[in-house]
This record gives sequence, structure tokens and C-alpha cells, in this order.
Amino acid sequence: MNYIVAVDKNWGIGKNNDLLFSLRGDMKFFKETTMGSTVVMGDRTLLSLPKSEPLKGRDNVVMTLDENFKPDGVTLCHSIEDLGKYLKEKNPEKVFVMGGATIYNLLYDYCEYAYITKVDAVGDADVFIKNLDTLDHWEMVEEGKTLEENGLKYRFCKYKNNQIKEM
Ligand SMILES: NC(=O)c1ccc[n+]([C@@H]2O[C@H](COP(=O)([O-])OP(=O)(O)OC[C@H]3O[C@@H](n4cnc5c(N)ncnc54)[C@H](OP(=O)(O)O)[C@@H]3O)[C@@H](O)[C@H]2O)c1
Repeated sequence: MNYIVAVDKNWGIGKNNDLLFSLRGDMKFFKETTMGSTVVMGDRTLLSLPKSEPLKGRDNVVMTLDENFKPDGVTLCHSIEDLGKYLKEKNPEKVFVMGGATIYNLLYDYCEYAYITKVDAVGDADVFIKNLDTLDHWEMVEEGKTLEENGLKYRFCKYKNNQIKEM
């Protein structure tokens, strides 16, 4: 399993249930990377998507503790155990955790790779994820060149977890 996220300099990822930055290049990368795969998200991230609808061309899994939350077109999972059972038959290379902060922080230990878009700015975030640069068992295995859009510099980086937790 993988996760994919855009972070600011402080590993902040969102504010007021919205993204910090709007980068077309990053959106394109996200779409190309996740197309045809399973995407795993929290219910708040589903609600933050356009029309609160699941992503087209992908198998959408939504994590919630609320038994009454029943959106269309998604598979619901109410625990890590539920998710583990659902993902058993899937190719782990084609599973991407896509947010938000609660769900990244819940699942990153179970991921082998993290696709981190590092934005060289501070976004005044109200939600944050774990800074992988502070963890010995995660290493950066790829670092893209610096790109720039609307005055914002960013880089696509890939990290590997050398101590994956079993679900
Ligand atoms: N920068 C990026 O790449 C990126 C990507 C995605 C999202 N985001 C941002 O992240 C923010 C949203 O993050 P968030 O933390 O507020 O929400 P979230 O992670 O999308 O969803 C959290 C929800 O997950 C459910 N949940 C929590 N623990 C669970 C468990 N053990 N099993 C099953 N379900 C569980 C809970 O649902 P119930 O309360 O209903 O039970 C909780 O409200 C937004 O600002 C969004 O824009 C950023």
C-alpha cells in the first residue's frame, strides 16, 4: 500500500477541510498515479471532493466510524481490520491512501511507499501529518527536480518504509 499527499514546509496538508494549494501539476500527478487503483480516504476528504462524489476511474474506499454514513459509489470500512479484509485480494502496489490527516496518520505505518509533493511554502494549515524526515525507518528514495507554478516551488519525492506494519 502507498500514500500520496501534498505537504507544506511543516508537513501541514489542509485548512478548513480544504487543500492548502491548488497546483495543476500536482493534480495531474495525483490523477495519473492513482488512475485505475483503489483509493482510501476518510469521510471528511470524500466530502471535500467536487460535489462530494467519489473519484472516477478508481475504486473508492471510505473510512468512517459513523454507521449511518452511506454515500453512493464507495466501499465503506469502519476499522483498520475491515480495511485489511477488503484489501486482501488487491495488489498493494495499486492501493493509495489519499487523506485526510486522520487517515494518513492512522495508516502510514502500513504503507510501503509515500508519494510526497513537497511545497516550498507555509500554508497556515490546521491539519498535519507525520514528518517522514524525522523517522529513521523511512528514507527518501527519489527526489524530483524543483518545479514552479504561480510562484510556488514544489518537488515530487518518494519515500520508502523499511519497517512496514502488517494489517
Ligand atoms: N494535501 C493533501 O494532499 C490532502 C489530501 C487529502 C485531504 N487533505 C486535507 O485533509 C483535511 C481532512 O482531514 P481530516 O483529518 O479532517 O479528515 P479525514 O482524514 O478525511 O477523515 C477523518 C474521518 O475518518 C474517520 N475515521 C477516523 N478513524 C477511523 C477509524 N479508525 N476507522 C474508520 N474510520 C475512521 C472518522 O469519521 P467519522 O467521524 O464519520 O466517524 C473521521 O472523521 C482537509 O483539509 C483536506 O483538504 C489534504
